[in-house]
Amino acid sequence: MRAAIDILMKEHRFIEEVAGALDTLVLSVRDGLVPDRQVLARFGAFLRDYVDRAHHGKEEDRLFVRMTEHGFPAEYGPIGVMLADHVEGRSHTRAIIDLGAGDGPLSEGDLSRLVSAGSAYVPLIRSHIGKEDNILYPMAMRVLPVPVLDQLEKEFFEFDRLQIGTAKLEEYVAAGKDLVARFPPDPARVHPVFMGCHS
Ligand SMILES: [Fe+2]
Repeated sequence: MRAAIDILMKEHRFIEEVAGALDTLVLSVRDGLVPDRQVLARFGAFLRDYVDRAHHGKEEDRLFVRMTEHGFPAEYGPIGVMLADHVEGRSHTRAIIDLGAGDGPLSEGDLSRLVSAGSAYVPLIRSHIGKEDNILYPMAMRVLPVPVLDQLEKEFFEFDRLQIGTAKLEEYVAAGKDLVARFPPDPARVHPVFMGCHS
């Protein structure tokens, strides 16, 4: 395992935990919980800032660029599929952010929008992560020369430091951990096909 890919896979493990927390929230809402909008704002901010800007940012602006330079098509094939997943994830993230930004208690309509966005996002991100861990990243490791992978590792650190900001990133991680603590994921609900990918 090259370090660059290891960085992305470690981020996957954390994203899975927070996705598990979102799953727990959605289940609780189905059971009658009416959460504060602030909770939704925090989930939405994590999905936007950590998952999309920090993690997908490293993939789209660095890894996928190197892969296309080494012969992978950008518009279709595995990278095209990953990009389409990212676009779909953004639409569910936007829905959660919008609910978090509204006024007053959540209405019945808001709650059903939350359940539908969350129930779509959680399996999407789990299956997306499974495709990257098991298909896309192994392809990248086969095709990218070792010096390119080593350079990517440096670029990922630089991306976090300059594009995201070290303090901001720490803030996003703390916010994600807080959500996991408040809405503990149920390991029994993680699809067994992905359970082997955690080590
Ligand atoms: Fe990813």
